[in-house]
Amino acid sequence: MAVSIERVSKTYGTRTGEIFAVDDVSLTIKDGEFVALLGPSGCGKSTLMLMMAGLVARSVGRIAIGSTTVTRPYTDLGIVFQEANLLDWRTVLKNLMLQIEIRGLPPAQYEARARELLKMVGLDGYEQKYPFELSGGMQQRVSICRALVHEPPLLLMDEPFGALDALTRDQLNMDLQDLWMDKPKTVIFVTHSISEAVFLSDRIIVMTPRPGKIAADIKVDLPRPRTMAMRETPEFGAYTKQIRAMFEDWGVLRTERTPAQKLGAVA
Ligand SMILES: Nc1ncnc2c1ncn2[C@@H]1O[C@H](COP(=O)(O)OP(=O)(O)O)[C@@H](O)[C@H]1O
Ligand SMILES: [Mg+2]
Repeated sequence: MAVSIERVSKTYGTRTGEIFAVDDVSLTIKDGEFVALLGPSGCGKSTLMLMMAGLVARSVGRIAIGSTTVTRPYTDLGIVFQEANLLDWRTVLKNLMLQIEIRGLPPAQYEARARELLKMVGLDGYEQKYPFELSGGMQQRVSICRALVHEPPLLLMDEPFGALDALTRDQLNMDLQDLWMDKPKTVIFVTHSISEAVFLSDRIIVMTPRPGKIAADIKVDLPRPRTMAMRETPEFGAYTKQIRAMFEDWGVLRTERTPAQKLGAVA
């Protein structure tokens, strides 16, 4: 599903004044593309993603998914957030099937797909377990499967692996690539991790600090399937270096330590 964003800005009104979150973003995402929205914390990534889903109203501009202008919550998609948000009293399989029930789709037709998705992320045998019996990484895999079980043409992910340890995060990056390659769909993946963005994406939209503007639109020309070992290649490093330099320019990443830090006076 293609997504088009035309001159979109967002200002939040708060009791203490206005917060200018997103500044004049225009962007066209092609059907089937895997796009990362990458930027420092607080730059408006989540705001932009939530506006695409119609969950936050934009202040100015237009967003269309396919030929539909988004004016209310758009439902023909899947969304994954940082927290898995599973229902404690439902088994893993029933958590997936909730998506089907809510949409009034025929369960008999989708249960096989639910089981197949769980298998693809290494959770066969866990169908009848409850969320408390799963690790954080497993719970997040269930939440990704739940977002895909109805086979949406668009998947929105907001820092889905942000709460996981590094090794689990690597594994989920691999799993996500498999899921995307299995059934191509448009993915918009919000992250502040440079290497995660390079590893996963066809294209990286780098956003400036708030108010978020598009600072760069980078095509990632690395072959697929990507492997963890690829992260050590010069080609991979060239992308992370290019982006890291932008973050450093903005002062978001300080690589130089102050003399006091070098002396150990400051942590
Ligand atoms: N509902 C809201 N009301 C007021 N300000 C908000 C709201 N949501 C986000 N903001 C502010 O908008 C800016 C961008 O937030 P957000 O989109 O969450 O950034 P990111 O996802 O890149 O970390 C931040 O300064 C944040 O505090
Ligand atoms: Mg966010």
